[in-house]
Parts: sequence; C-alpha cells; structure tokens
Amino acid sequence: MKFPKKTVDDLSDLKGKKALVRVDFNVPLDDDGQVGDTTRLEAAVPTISRLLEAGAIPVLMSHLGRPGGKVVEEYRLAPVAAPLAELLDCEVRTADDTVGESARQMVSELETGQVGLLENLRFQSGEKDNDSEFASQLAEFGDLFVSDAFGTAHRAHASMTGVPEHLRPAVGGYLLKSEFEKLTEARDNPERPFVALLGGAKISDKLPVIEHFLEKADVVLVGGAMAYTFAVARGGEVGASMVEPDFIDEARRILENRDNYRGELVLPVDNVVMNTDSEELETRVTKTDEIADGWEGMDIGPRTLEMFLTRMRVAKMVFWNGPFGAFDYAPEFAQGTVKIAEELAGLDARVIVGGGDSASAVKNAGFADDFYHVSTGGGASLELVRGEELPGIEILDDLE
Ligand code: ADP
Ligand code: 3PG
Ligand code: MG
Repeated sequence: MKFPKKTVDDLSDLKGKKALVRVDFNVPLDDDGQVGDTTRLEAAVPTISRLLEAGAIPVLMSHLGRPGGKVVEEYRLAPVAAPLAELLDCEVRTADDTVGESARQMVSELETGQVGLLENLRFQSGEKDNDSEFASQLAEFGDLFVSDAFGTAHRAHASMTGVPEHLRPAVGGYLLKSEFEKLTEARDNPERPFVALLGGAKISDKLPVIEHFLEKADVVLVGGAMAYTFAVARGGEVGASMVEPDFIDEARRILENRDNYRGELVLPVDNVVMNTDSEELETRVTKTDEIADGWEGMDIGPRTLEMFLTRMRVAKMVFWNGPFGAFDYAPEFAQGTVKIAEELAGLDARVIVGGGDSASAVKNAGFADDFYHVSTGGGASLELVRGEELPGIEILDDLE
C-alpha cells in the first residue's frame, strides 16, 4: 500500500529551518557502553541527509531502553553521537537533558550543517504519558516535524503523537515510508504461495499473529518456544520446555479449528533438547511430544527442519518473525534458524523479516542483504502486518 501521508519530499523552503525529527535510536549497547549494532542509525541516515542537503537543521530525538521516566546514566544517548556523526559526515551536538536548559542552549546554537541530538526522551515521564506540556516543550525546538521512528510507531507517546498536535507540517521520513510500503505488501496482497514462519519466545505476543497468518497465508510454520504450548495443548509431554499455561486453551482452540483456516498449520515433530540438570551442555534430539523431565526444547530438530525447508521452497512470498531456537543462548541452538535463513536467502521469493531478534539472527548469519526487507521494527512490524493502525503514522499530514 502506498504510504498515505506526506513525506520530507513534500516539504519546500527548508533553508535555515529547524526540523524536529523523531528517530528510533533504541540500539543495543555492548559491555563498554558503545553502540553494538548501528542498523537503526544507518536506517535514519537518508532522511537526515536529505534535510541537511536542503539546508534544514535537524534536531533529533529518541528513546533508549526503558529508564522509566527518570535519568539513568547507562541510558544516555551520548554513545550514539560518534557513530552517527561518522555515518552523516557532519558534527552531531548533544545535550545533557531533553527539554531543559542544556537542550535549549544546544538547539539555539545549532548552525546549518550541524545536527542536534536531545537526551533520552524517556528520562521524562511525560514521554510515555503523552503529556501535552512535555510535547509542547519538544515542539518548541522545531519549525516542522518529521517522524522516521518506525520501530516506535505503535507507541502513542509524546514525541510520536503529542508533538504533531503542536507542530505542523508533520511528515514521514524515508524509513517510515519504506517500512510501511514493504510490510503492507505482506498484509494486503501477498504473492502466492505465501508462507509465514513464526518462531520466538512469547506465545502471548505471537498468538494473534499466528491466527492472522492462518487466515491469510497458504502455509504457517510454527517453531521456537511457542511450539511447546501447542504440544501441551494436544496432550504431549514437553519436559522443562518453555510453556505459557495461560495460553494452552487458546492454542487448543486453534488446533481444533485448524481445518477451517485458509493456511495449513505445520508444527515441529522433533527438537534439539538440553539437559537442564547438567553443568555441561548436553543435548539430544527428541520427538516434540516426548521430551523427558529435566530436558528443555531449545531448537527444532532435523526432521522438522527438512519438513519446513520443503514447505518453504514453493513460496513466492515469505513473512518471518521470531527465531526457531534459542540462537542467542548457544551456537548449538542456532542451527534451525541459520539453515532456514540460508534457504530463504537462495529462494526466488520476496522475503520479509520482522522482529528485533529475528533481524539480528539474520544479520549475524550474514544473510540480511539477500532479503527483500528486514524491518527495523519488532512490535511495530507485527502490529502493522496484522492490520492494526500505527498511531505514529496516523497522526501525520495526509496527502492532499
Ligand atoms: P523477535 O524479537 O524476533 O520478535 P522474540 O523476542 O519473540 O523474537 O523471540 C526471541 C527469543 O526467543 C530469543 O531470545 C530466543 O532465544 C528465544 N527462543 C526461541 N526459541 C526458543 C526455544 N525453543 N526455547 C527458548 N527460547 C527460545
Ligand atoms: C523497539 O525496540 O521495539 C522500539 O524501540 C520500541 O521500544 P519499546 O518496546 O521499549 O517501546
Ligand atoms: Mg524480541
């Protein structure tokens, strides 16, 4: 679906104007407090560069982590400034606070060719509360508003939906537009056969997504920890595997209804399991419904992998969310996810990957460039593909 909102390309006369830009720089930091993965910074560069080229002065704002409305030293945005300056090839000036004296001074001193970066938005409780006073203080910093924070577009926070109540024009950036247009392909008119791959940990987050894809896709392959809740629902024994008891009934309902969906539901038949009573890493392969006490399912097994690979090969479009095993726990449990990524990379199909951990699994395995789209959004991408409106997009100026 074409992006229904105005973008930075619809703006004119930007020379000397301050552009207040909401970005999603919620990046992982390593043990030294440095940016561990610059994907989200790189993704914001085209919009910021375009503003700079047009003579505007970008004032950037983002959250980092969940500091809970107060200053938490390790969540300062300062580590972002150096890698960002390198990517943009310009000076990035920071402030010690979000809307206080330091921020006001920094913004007032900014010159053409420089970029400003406010301190973490979530150091202020007004951000999550969407407080109007806080939003209006932020709005003071710009002559216009640009949102390029796709990863946060599902949050109705002050910097996302509050600021545009006080500041227009309010337009989208290139990342927001491209994420929207690519992800809605998987939502609205997927090429068929359309195969959905759903893994990851939390069935509570993913169950509505499973059902959405059972209604929309031709094949739905379910892996990851979610599969054990399904196994329990059909009477299997899953040992120490991760199960969400509150969702067993819901999983049972889906299983009982499985013939009525458009898509075929395919669940794992075997797993790589780990002995939770052993100090050393001890693994074996077991049938999914027969995992012994003290053993935990950590990856899909070889028979399941073959079954999944066979189903995937026919696909013309793929949507993938959630790794198929605990790839980040030990390399032994990354096998399923990596083999699936490798297969997808060689497929003549449009492959869209959504989800934070899924994207990093694909990047770690070295396949990110082979895919049609790897989303920078986790929750936002899932909400969009299952048909929810994203408040951070809705609020922007409509196309005339
Ligand atoms: P995404 O961020 O892509 O939406 P999730 O956050 O839902 O994905 O899931 C990622 C997490 O799921 C990873 O930390 C991974 O270790 C975990 N995971 C996947 N499969 C299993 C499993 N079988 N057992 C335990 N954890 C798993
Ligand atoms: C994300 O990383 O998914 C976004 O930056 C949103 O962060 P949040 O889940 O803390 O709101
Ligand atoms: Mg995750």
